[in-house]
Amino acid sequence: MAPRPTPADKFSFGLWTVGWQARDPFGDATRPELDAVEAVHRLAELGAYGITFHDDDLIPFGADAATRDQHIARFRKALDETGLVVPMVTTNLFTHPIFKDGGFTSNDRDVRRYALRKVLRQVDLAAELGASTFVMWGGREGSEYDLAKDVRAALDRYREAVDLLTQYSIDKGYGLRFALEPKPNEPRGDILLPTIGHALGFISQLAHPELVGLNPEVGHEQMAGLNYAHGIAQALWQGKLFHLDLNGQRGIKYDQDLVFGHGDLMNAFALVDLLENGGPNGGPAYDGPRHFDYKPSRTEDMDGVWASAAANMSTYLLLKERAAAFRADPEVVEALAASKVGDLNTPTLNEGEGYEEFLADRSAFEDVDVDAVAERGFAFVRLNQLAVEHLLGAR
Ligand code: GCO
Ligand code: MN
Ligand code: MN
Repeated sequence: MAPRPTPADKFSFGLWTVGWQARDPFGDATRPELDAVEAVHRLAELGAYGITFHDDDLIPFGADAATRDQHIARFRKALDETGLVVPMVTTNLFTHPIFKDGGFTSNDRDVRRYALRKVLRQVDLAAELGASTFVMWGGREGSEYDLAKDVRAALDRYREAVDLLTQYSIDKGYGLRFALEPKPNEPRGDILLPTIGHALGFISQLAHPELVGLNPEVGHEQMAGLNYAHGIAQALWQGKLFHLDLNGQRGIKYDQDLVFGHGDLMNAFALVDLLENGGPNGGPAYDGPRHFDYKPSRTEDMDGVWASAAANMSTYLLLKERAAAFRADPEVVEALAASKVGDLNTPTLNEGEGYEEFLADRSAFEDVDVDAVAERGFAFVRLNQLAVEHLLGAR
């Protein structure tokens, strides 16, 4: 039996996920429009705690002020009725044709100024709804043709935009944290800040790096052939895991946005183990929302949409259960020790040891029996097979 989620599990969904009508470059919508109020109620019934949205998911692009207020009021009412919260908010700088060459980094300055104003308005709404994280996915910030985009100038403009936003949040006392979402390509041929590593490098150049972190998405790293769990570990190590987008992806191809775990299940297992058990004392390493950014497949009707939303949560909870069983298994404890996994926490140098003492230590080099040390096996395969057995419910 799949475990049932509760708000304590901190599961959240983008309004654009369950609301996706499944229009793709080759085909029309296969599902009707979903009202935001219904989405709030259905997600709450399924056990989610939060909902997130782009401005245009809730308020049609170009709506006048009165219409905008109405949409926000209806949405707020639904939140109050259900207790669902809005932990994160984001801006759509990719759908409208004005953003065809990007928002913050369009070659057209008028577009850049317009994009920044659109985001500032959404920052106000984020604060109004009590969000703590503001996500920025620069889907159109990029190019198809290398000579058409001065990447260094584009990064200057990107930085200019992020610096303005952080300063605005500081001055307004909003207390928001900004999370950049990397993606290598799609819809642009090449997107700026394509991976976790690129985004971390960019953050170091900002005026307020402490307010800017990451919102890494499973599929986006995997589209670049990268290991998501490793990327998340580095983001945690640098104190930059502000939020995350969970979903599934099967290899290096278009962005599939499958249900969490419906791609690389072993990596999803390692990820959940890291998030839930990778903290200092074996507790959670991350306490933010477990946010799903997936697309219910185009083949699904509305029942399938809600079944797939539930599937994300139950897969996460099953992996959490399996990870706890893995950690509690004495054979795993022994295998981890045999593989010296914990030994990596021991500093390589002795306490107070500098390079002079180190160079004087013959046991570290001159007296090492290199052949004998090289013969030691690490037994990683046995450890991994234990993980597989736990994952498959054989233990
Ligand atoms: C994608 C992206 C988007 C962003 C979202 C937030 O699948 O390409 O994940 O879904 O996360 O638009 O801005
Ligand atoms: Mn995606
Ligand atoms: Mn995403």
